[in-house]
Amino acid sequence: MQLNIAKNRALYWVKVPYQVKKLASKRFEVKILKEKIIADVKINIMGSEVVDGFICKPKKLDPNKPIMYFKTHIFICEGERCKKASNGKDVSYKLREILKKLNLNIGINRIKISRSGCFGACRFRGVANIYENTNANGYLPNNNIWLKNIHNFNEKKWIELFKNLSENQNLNNFQQIEITQI
Ligand code: FES
Repeated sequence: MQLNIAKNRALYWVKVPYQVKKLASKRFEVKILKEKIIADVKINIMGSEVVDGFICKPKKLDPNKPIMYFKTHIFICEGERCKKASNGKDVSYKLREILKKLNLNIGINRIKISRSGCFGACRFRGVANIYENTNANGYLPNNNIWLKNIHNFNEKKWIELFKNLSENQNLNNFQQIEITQI
């Protein structure tokens, strides 16, 4: 009897040989459900293998790939008006690519980018919020800073921002929203 295993499917297909088929009144195939033969290997954005049933939970905690660790967390507004100001571009994706080039997507000075809905500060669009992880090595003076007009930033400006943040420099060259303005 020939046994075929369908790759990446939790199924056995058992094919009945010709002689047996001949005896049977009609051709048939038997499907047998099996728990799992070959699991899909899912990888999270840090490159770690993910626990089955999860989207990003790593199977093995690797300090060089800390999915939850960051020094600085930047929330990029993807609300309707900010998105429109950026001509619908995927700003967060682009920023993650820049961070990879700077090697700031991992390690002790990791900068994490997250997408956000509308902050209710649309008149300052595009808007981003910077959160420093003061439970770790975050730099308090740069905590809870609201940047405005980020849709005008080019790659050079983003690199300047990321370097300033990772080197704990104040962000005097960046337009900020005063909290009282919101
Ligand atoms: S759409 Fe960005 S703050 Fe409202």
